[in-house]
Amino acid sequence: MTLREKLRLTEGLSAWKTVPVPEEDLPSLFMSDGPHGLRMQDFTENIFHQGSKPATCFPTAVSTSQSFDTNLLAEIGKAIGEEANEQGADVVLGPGVNIKRNPLCGRNFEYFSEDPYVAGKLAAAFINALQGTGIGGCIKHFACNNQEERRMSSNSAVDERTLREIYLTAFEIAIKESSPSSVMAAYNRVNGTYCPENKMLLTDILRDEWGFDGLVMSDWTAIDNRSESLKAGCDLLMPGCHYYAEKQVAKDVKEGKLKKEVIRRAANRVKAWVRKFGPGGEMSGQRTDSCNYESHNTLAGKAAEQSAVLLKNDDNILPIKPSETVAAFGRMYTKLRYQGAGSSLINPTKLTQICEVIKSDGNPSECDIAVIFTGLPDEYESEGFDRTDLKLPPEDVKLIEETAAVNPNTIVVLFAGGVVETPWIDKVKAVLYMGLPGQAGAEAVKNLLYGYANPCGRLAESWCMEYADVPSADTYGAKNATYKEGIYVGYRYYEKNALTVRFPFGHGLSYTKFEYSDLTVKEDIVTVRVKNTGSRYGGEAVLMYVVAPEDSVVDRPLRELKGFTKVFLEPNAETTVKFNLNPRSFAIWQGKWVIPGGVYKIQIGGKAEELYKQGDVFAPITYTIPVYEDSPKKPGEFTLNDTPDELAAVSLFAKTFCKVTEKILLTKTGGERNNHFEMMYACSVLGPLRATVQSGGISVELAEALVDSANGKIIDSAEHLMDLFVARLKKS
Ligand code: GLC
Repeated sequence: MTLREKLRLTEGLSAWKTVPVPEEDLPSLFMSDGPHGLRMQDFTENIFHQGSKPATCFPTAVSTSQSFDTNLLAEIGKAIGEEANEQGADVVLGPGVNIKRNPLCGRNFEYFSEDPYVAGKLAAAFINALQGTGIGGCIKHFACNNQEERRMSSNSAVDERTLREIYLTAFEIAIKESSPSSVMAAYNRVNGTYCPENKMLLTDILRDEWGFDGLVMSDWTAIDNRSESLKAGCDLLMPGCHYYAEKQVAKDVKEGKLKKEVIRRAANRVKAWVRKFGPGGEMSGQRTDSCNYESHNTLAGKAAEQSAVLLKNDDNILPIKPSETVAAFGRMYTKLRYQGAGSSLINPTKLTQICEVIKSDGNPSECDIAVIFTGLPDEYESEGFDRTDLKLPPEDVKLIEETAAVNPNTIVVLFAGGVVETPWIDKVKAVLYMGLPGQAGAEAVKNLLYGYANPCGRLAESWCMEYADVPSADTYGAKNATYKEGIYVGYRYYEKNALTVRFPFGHGLSYTKFEYSDLTVKEDIVTVRVKNTGSRYGGEAVLMYVVAPEDSVVDRPLRELKGFTKVFLEPNAETTVKFNLNPRSFAIWQGKWVIPGGVYKIQIGGKAEELYKQGDVFAPITYTIPVYEDSPKKPGEFTLNDTPDELAAVSLFAKTFCKVTEKILLTKTGGERNNHFEMMYACSVLGPLRATVQSGGISVELAEALVDSANGKIIDSAEHLMDLFVARLKKS
């Protein structure tokens, strides 16, 4: 292969495929979204096309994380692998493990937790099972992609300790415990450098320190400088765009800014990846040849049941008794919100509405029980944009309050991709949180409300009283996002500051009762007896925390989750669960992983035993957040890496472009400013021009003309438009 052919191999052939090399028997590998089911495009060129092939829509990660059950995530990973085999995908672009730094993040529905240990362990279980079917996983988005606001150009300014302990650990656990076929580099910058161009992340840490030997791809259209991304270790530019690789790289090779070896390295990694996970590759021996969509639908229902969290159940009003009359209503009763939106959107193999499985006996004021099915509508959260607050729609809050006023036995069932404020909580008897439960969510809700299934989930994200309590509330969403809260994210913050939350991380009720006894800590083994002392079969997620020394010389959280397991027990049955401690159960990052001296305790289910742990004694290292200046650009400084709305500040042409783009997008959504519109708007008008060029949205000539107009080069701008005009004439 010539250098040019090698370079061509390091970009996508299209939105979902790699470049085949027939003379080397190298096939094209097919990728497909996403983390909770397949989105196999009917068209391989259009990533926003919603008409993907039907696939099982499993509960999204916000739900499955609440199961605290690695076996369940493995079952889902295996099922998605079977569907990928059946539908012709070789690699699935998931799971997403970004940390829930702030509950406003529009994409939190697609991620597991505020805690990196939970996220890492569940992701590893999913990837191992998925890859067990011969299908590659792709863990994403590496790293610090914690907001959707201007995600393609934002900067995450984060100190080293926080980066290590909070934002990298989930990736580290999953990569070391499941060897995903690939890693997707995120859109955003970390301390000023775009992730696909960030050598510290992609080579120094990912490969040299963690031993990752798979492929690194960019998120779609995430690369600005291809030469820098090759040097940093980003092997594959997706979805592929000749303009960037050939023109830019050829120039840099010629000027000695980029060594040919770097291109060869990337090409060899792409080849190795395709030879392993592509059609007929090394993993093909593990490929499954059976796929039962009906059983996958049943699994989706089981997952939805086991991921639900019973937040409140006064007077044990739940489960509903057969003799009780029920008024069932609310926005989700007839239009279930069962998944998020954006690249993870699935066309489900089947879908049931709650009104089809739970009948309503009549008026809320006349029935024994009133059940309101509510939550966040599609337009409140999605990939591509963030929420503006944590509130339910006002009309839903009004409905809850009016119902509670006429029926003291009011129950709320919530469907949302994350935290919602619940000022009405004291007016209702019970609250069941379903997250986004997937295509079989309606049956799951019925089974849970009527007791055919017993809720056994726990929150994997803290539910604050109100948004102002969130540690990153005042800085969140800035284009230059400064992670000033450091390691104090989620429960680490609320517990350290003794701040009352509505529902804490790990909260979850059951229709039965579990008791713990005989907690022992011997060497690095922790054991505890768990007994079902209630009257119903049920599941229990057992969470183990390591409590920091009270006299710790280093500023650190009061306790951190370092183990969890899920057990299912019949009434009066009991079992012993075991946890293994290791140095990282106690360590913090101080330029390396170290264990500060002191007495540590092990805490399970709120009960703490004493464990004496010898540790290092040292002077703590404090870290500062690297300063990154993102001052507004002046004419002459704009590049393709800037966004149309930024250019519009100084260019009438760019301003017109933004308005025309808005009109065009509205024609695609029937004039509705819905979540699809918001996402496409975020990717085009609020996204760097290079992204729109790489996705095929506009020509590079038009993009260059816009940039020149903002830089005051009117003649150059006109020349680019003329080039475009001539190119179109030739084409026609
Ligand atoms: C999107 C997402 C990523 C997805 C990719 C392909 O922009 O950020 O998660 O896998 O593009 O659709």
